[in-house]
Amino acid sequence: MSQRIRIQAEELERYATAVLRAADVAEGHAKLVARSLVEANLRGVDSHGVQLLGFYMEQIEAGDVDRHAVGRVVSESGGCLHYDGENGLGQVVSSICCGHGVRLAREYGISLVVAQESNHFGAAAFWAQHYARHGLIGIALCNASPMVPPWQGREPRLGTNPICMAVPGGEVRPWLLDMATTTVAAGKIYKAMLNHQETIPHGWAMDREGVSTTETAVALKGLLAPLGGYKGSGLAMMVEILVAGLGGGAIGTELGGLRIRGKRMRASQTFIGIDIARFMPVEAFTERMDKLIRMMKETPPAKGYDEVLVAGEPEWRAEEIRRRDGIPIEAGNWETLKAAAWRHGVPEPEYELEGALE
Ligand SMILES: NC(=O)c1ccc[n+]([C@@H]2O[C@H](COP(=O)([O-])OP(=O)(O)OC[C@H]3O[C@@H](n4cnc5c(N)ncnc54)[C@H](O)[C@@H]3O)[C@@H](O)[C@H]2O)c1
Repeated sequence: MSQRIRIQAEELERYATAVLRAADVAEGHAKLVARSLVEANLRGVDSHGVQLLGFYMEQIEAGDVDRHAVGRVVSESGGCLHYDGENGLGQVVSSICCGHGVRLAREYGISLVVAQESNHFGAAAFWAQHYARHGLIGIALCNASPMVPPWQGREPRLGTNPICMAVPGGEVRPWLLDMATTTVAAGKIYKAMLNHQETIPHGWAMDREGVSTTETAVALKGLLAPLGGYKGSGLAMMVEILVAGLGGGAIGTELGGLRIRGKRMRASQTFIGIDIARFMPVEAFTERMDKLIRMMKETPPAKGYDEVLVAGEPEWRAEEIRRRDGIPIEAGNWETLKAAAWRHGVPEPEYELEGALE
């Protein structure tokens, strides 16, 4: 086993908050960003956990993100709200937008909140779940740095533009689909880079000519593979239209990126809230959801598998284990986070060291 550390979620959240506070991010905002990242780690989505903090800190230090901005409402009409993030932290902008989204969905039955001039908002699940916790169906979409060619192309034009839908659960855990529109999120390739893993699985990325590669270094300079070929390109375009098309924000190659300095990211985000109670009592709906999920899970497993899973299930399981045993963080990720903390004089938290140096 290569070396890694194991840390309790509360301790990691305190550490991440302290790092952001040391860079003059307001306390409430620092806590929010830290919580969104650690929640992803808890759910096993390490590509969108504290790994992102190193990149966020570089953006903040370079002045590419306005650490103090909170944005402003551009317009509100019925269930529709248009927000200008004014280059604030993506989590700060998204939190305000989701607050409006829940209010408007309650009032009008459905809400559509579109934010432009925002930044990276972490895992989309954090935001869609905000709606589900209020008994609403939540959908979160965003555009991202251009790293993906449209199908049959060989230059980046689109981001990994995620799609997430969270549905309130009954007896069974909530259904939570949270996926990039590429085979995997770019963060999984960054994770391989930070932990000096020379190869990545087949199907994740392509070289600059659009030819599939399993070499991490080639992938980093190359392209991410759209999910399922032209269908992934279509879904990424759908997201682009619903976020930046509708909101008037940066589209495709106009976006900056987590690893691009001297340029604003200019991400857009869209949040949709649906009030189930307009159709049936929430309890009746969650019973139907439980029935649907059971129907899926009772499917006889295919050869080579023990069971059928539904979206969200792998992450609920990871969360149960990680809340109990702590969060494992690979050495490369930890070193990057420590470097950002060290630049701001934040001392290391308590953790356990596991494994041996290879
Ligand atoms: N902020 C951004 O710009 C941005 C961009 C892209 C992706 N992301 C985030 O990246 C994260 C990871 O995305 P990803 O596409 O690599 O995720 P993934 O491929 O690990 O999982 C995608 C979905 O598939 C489900 N799933 C996994 N295994 C399953 C199984 N065996 N059966 C049924 N369902 C299963 C998961 O529950 C999840 O909902 C997400 O949180 C996403 O929001 C963020």
